[in-house]
Amino acid sequence: MKLLEVKQVSKRFGGLVANQDVSFGVDTGQVVGLIGPNGAGKTTMFNCVAGYFAPTSGSILLGGRNIAGLPPEACARAGVARTFQIARTFTSMTACENVMTAAMLLQHNVARARRAAMDWLAFAGLERFADRPAASMTISEQRRLAVARALATQPRILLMDEVMAGLNPSEVREAVDVVLKIRDKGIACLIVEHVLEGIMPIADKIVVLDRGVKIAEGTPQQVSSDAAVITAYLGD
Ligand SMILES: Nc1ncnc2c1ncn2[C@@H]1O[C@H](COP(=O)(O)OP(=O)(O)O)[C@@H](O)[C@H]1O
Ligand SMILES: [Mg+2]
Repeated sequence: MKLLEVKQVSKRFGGLVANQDVSFGVDTGQVVGLIGPNGAGKTTMFNCVAGYFAPTSGSILLGGRNIAGLPPEACARAGVARTFQIARTFTSMTACENVMTAAMLLQHNVARARRAAMDWLAFAGLERFADRPAASMTISEQRRLAVARALATQPRILLMDEVMAGLNPSEVREAVDVVLKIRDKGIACLIVEHVLEGIMPIADKIVVLDRGVKIAEGTPQQVSSDAAVITAYLGD
C-alpha cells in the first residue's frame, strides 16, 4: 500500500530552486533511499515531508491525506518522524530523558513515558546508557539515540538524514541492523545517505536527486548502473 506519495513537489528559496517537480512514493514497511550529490535538495525534501518547510507547490500525501504545509507537530501526529543531519541531542540529559522528551508527546504519565523510553533504548541497543548523560555517548550512539527518540513518537514513517555519515564500518553495520529492525516492525524508512554501502544493500528502492530534480528511481541495481546517476556522482 502507498503510505507516502510525494507529488510534483517544488521548493524555492527566492530564485534558488531546491526541489523541482519531485515525485516518488514509499510503501508501508519499505526502505527507500534518497541519494544525490551535495546540494541536490535531499534535506529540503525531508523538511517538506516533515513539515519544517511548506512546499512552494505540489502535494505530500500520507495515507491519502495531504500533509503539505502542515506544521511539524501535525506531521508528527499524522505519523512522520525524523532525525536531523546535525544530531540534536540534549547532552546534559540522560539517554532515557532524551527519549522521554519524545515519548511524552503521546504519553503524559511520566512513569509510562519512562517505560516506553526504556523499551526504545533497548530496541536501539542503548539500554546501558539509560541513566548516563548523553554527552558520554559516541557519535554513533548519539545517532541511534536520535532514532530511538524519533521512534518514541510511534511513526508510520521514519525519515533519517545521514545517520551513517562519519561512522566506521562496524558502526555502519549497527546502524543498518537498526534500520532492518525498524522495517521489521512495519515502519517505513526514508533514508538520506551518502554512505552508499550502508543504504544500497538494504533499500527496496532508491530515488536519486541532482540539482533539485529527480534523475532516477529504481532498485539499487538499476540506479547504480544508470548513466545519469554515474555522471552526477562523478561530477560531485
Ligand atoms: N533554508 C534555506 N534557505 C535558502 N536556501 C536553502 C535553504 N535550505 C537549503 N537551501 C539551498 O537549497 C539547495 C539544496 O540544499 P539541501 O536540500 O540542503 O541539499 P542536500 O541535503 O541534498 O545536500 C542548496 O543550494 C541549499 O543552499
Ligand atoms: Mg543534506
